[in-house]
Amino acid sequence: MAEHVRVLLTEEEVDRRIQEIGEQINRDYAGKQVHLICVLKGGAFFLCELAKRITVPVSLDFMSVSSYGSATKSSGVVRIVKDLDEPLKDKEVLVVEDIVDSGRTLSYLLEMLKDRGPKSVRLCTLLDKPERRVVDVHVDYTCFQIPDEFVVGYGLDYDQRYRNLPYIGVVEFD
Ligand code: IMP
Ligand code: MG
Repeated sequence: MAEHVRVLLTEEEVDRRIQEIGEQINRDYAGKQVHLICVLKGGAFFLCELAKRITVPVSLDFMSVSSYGSATKSSGVVRIVKDLDEPLKDKEVLVVEDIVDSGRTLSYLLEMLKDRGPKSVRLCTLLDKPERRVVDVHVDYTCFQIPDEFVVGYGLDYDQRYRNLPYIGVVEFD
């Protein structure tokens, strides 16, 4: 089946919004150092763009989790594929995610990170699909709320493809 990607958010729209969120983070973390945690692989593009716009001191760490399930639906059972390199004790942690969908992955992850003794844990997401929420998750920074459609680009994949698109789009089948 042939497929194409319909643009939902242009590169300019995404970049402009990341700049705004970056400025908000700079105000909220003034006088502090923020420890950004990137959830791989989807969060990688957003993390890089966001981090470039943060002017308070930044450190970075990466983790990879997989939620057992199909390509388009998470099961709620989360497995750590790659853990963080650094401890979180006394750090101001900001988790950077590509998308909050059902909320299952994030709610599990945030609880696990809170157990490691950080000073604070906040969540920053590029996209949020509130209609899809099954588990309650507090999101501190949201770039865009989007409708219940399967999106790709800016780190998000469909079967590992399209992560490199510089915009957010919806995969449509012809
Ligand atoms: P949740 O546990 O249902 O919130 O799922 C979160 C994960 O599912 C995200 O980090 C993505 O990897 C994936 N996901 C959810 N919705 C989409 C989508 O529209 N496009 C691509 N990946 C998605
Ligand atoms: Mg993800």
